[in-house]
Amino acid sequence: MKILGVLCSIAVLLLTGIRCTSDNEKEYYGGLDCDTLQVSYSQVIDPILDRNCNACHFTGSNGTGVSLENYADVKKVVDNGRLLGAIKHEPGFAPMPQGGDLDDCSISKIEAWVNKGAPND
Ligand code: HEC
Repeated sequence: MKILGVLCSIAVLLLTGIRCTSDNEKEYYGGLDCDTLQVSYSQVIDPILDRNCNACHFTGSNGTGVSLENYADVKKVVDNGRLLGAIKHEPGFAPMPQGGDLDDCSISKIEAWVNKGAPND
């Protein structure tokens, strides 16, 4: 019985150890892989919005009332706080993209760009 107890403790330690490692590795890998320093509007942000959002959010898309097609329009949604609220699925905002998720790296890039003042670069 004693041996069984010891074996059980070892098994529990191993299992929790393995879980912690894989969680950390995922975050570490995501951090390494994701460049949040080079985040210019024209090179990085606009293409992300084009790919994921502009099918619904083009100029004059009266269904959404939000255009993300050009810098001036995107800046409006940055300044009223709705862009980050929507893509980070924060309470009080319509979660975007509608019916899906933006990948973590794209969210980090948009957030980094907003935090440096959302320049038209
Ligand atoms: C399939 C269509 C569709 C796609 C794709 C989509 N949206 Fe939307 N979006 C909508 C609709 C419809 C609304 C307005 C409905 C609502 O408020 O629930 C909206 C509202 C918004 C709002 C206003 C949210 C608020 O709470 O005021 C923002 C900001 C927004 N979208 C950003 C985005 C971004 C950024 C993407 C891409 C990552 C995206 N959307 C992708 C359809 C879409």
